[in-house]
Amino acid sequence: MNDQNLMEKIVSLAKRRGFIFPGSEIYGGLAGTYDYGPLGVVLKENIERLWLSMFRDDRDDMYGVDAAILMNPKIWEASGHVAGFSDPVVECEKCKKRFRADHLADVEKCPECEGALGSVRQFNMMFKTHAGATEDTSAIVYLRPETAGGIFTNFKNVVDSIHPKLPFGIAQIGKAFRNEIAPRDFIFRLRELSQMEVEYFVSPKEWKQAFEEWRKLMHLFAEAIGLPQSTVHELEVPAQDRAHYSKRTIDFEFDYPFGRKELWGLAYRTDFDLSAHANASNNDLSYLDEETKEKFVPHVIEPSLGVDRTMLAILTSAYREDAMGDDTRAYLALAPKIAPVKAMVSPLLKNKPELVAKAREVRAELKKAHSAIAWDDNGNIGKRYRRQDEIGTPFCITIDFDTLGETPELKGTVTLRHRDTGKQERLTVAEVAGRIRSAIE
Ligand code: GAP
Repeated sequence: MNDQNLMEKIVSLAKRRGFIFPGSEIYGGLAGTYDYGPLGVVLKENIERLWLSMFRDDRDDMYGVDAAILMNPKIWEASGHVAGFSDPVVECEKCKKRFRADHLADVEKCPECEGALGSVRQFNMMFKTHAGATEDTSAIVYLRPETAGGIFTNFKNVVDSIHPKLPFGIAQIGKAFRNEIAPRDFIFRLRELSQMEVEYFVSPKEWKQAFEEWRKLMHLFAEAIGLPQSTVHELEVPAQDRAHYSKRTIDFEFDYPFGRKELWGLAYRTDFDLSAHANASNNDLSYLDEETKEKFVPHVIEPSLGVDRTMLAILTSAYREDAMGDDTRAYLALAPKIAPVKAMVSPLLKNKPELVAKAREVRAELKKAHSAIAWDDNGNIGKRYRRQDEIGTPFCITIDFDTLGETPELKGTVTLRHRDTGKQERLTVAEVAGRIRSAIE
């Protein structure tokens, strides 16, 4: 399968099976926006939940915030985004289409109509809107371009309310907005995106050690969501390509079907943000070490993970096709931990009330431990398995007449079918529950 073909199959599966829909679709769409459907939203929540447990809840040095998306515009002046959060743009003088200049390196003519390209200018990517009933410049607010802003501006609130000892971090998941010149590659480059960000505050002497610890955790997270190690690569970003606030950045790149591209970033933001906000807001954002009595502005390590790019990496690396029976089946080899549906329960025949009643009982039993246990009695059993394969359900459980005791020694047992191999085994319901539990944990 070539790479373009793979992307087409993923986009089509994502829509057909309720993972991801084009934004505003019935009105012809809106570039750079996508909506998560019933299965996509659960997959997204499972990714976010796993991130929350690994990056926040399993640690004693991490705290959460959920800051407002609309913030005082002075924040984005102080952070350097008003002046510098821009991409180079060129406009075709003939068709007036705009392109990212750095995406057209060595190209002299418009790729759409061969017209002459104008000169390169900087285009600020922050979305502007107006707060309140006036539309003059004094009412301008920006949609946040990164969730980080709401973390830095709550640093003092967290210190004053929780009194954490350095090093500690603040984690946040939320929407960010970027007026990308050329949104593209499905959910890779969006105008409305979700980020999972940590700002980890350290003494300036300890930044290197903290950087290495977060670097390792990011690799562990990649492993936990099922990305093969061989597809995730580190790129040490050279000084001229780093964001204005960073003294060191490692991009975590992933082998997407359209090339090796940035998945996540890890940056050493020094004391750039806290110092800038302290100066601009006239607030003391330093930290007093109670033991040494030293007072200083903490430095920051920032692991920043895009949820949508994570989702795309998961879908592309999980997509498989193999020969099964007489035809080819497509399935998603999702890690059971993040699969939106953990198991599907089904009566072999839906017109046999005794099978249906037993299957309902088995499902209710399994649901005590995991809510994401689906029910499917549509079509024949082969079709039900294929539907679950396509959405990445790791297990299917079928209740038949042997479950009811037609073969006395099999009474109470069910068929457990494994997604990746299609293999089936006969187990008790308690054993099935154990299999699901150990696969997820
Ligand atoms: N706070 C740091 C920050 O925002 P960034 O490298 O600009 O750094 C962090 O973005 C992550 O957010 C990226 O690694 C990527 O996962 C995601 N991201 C950035 N721009 C995106 C876009 N236009 N569409 C989807 N995800 C994006």
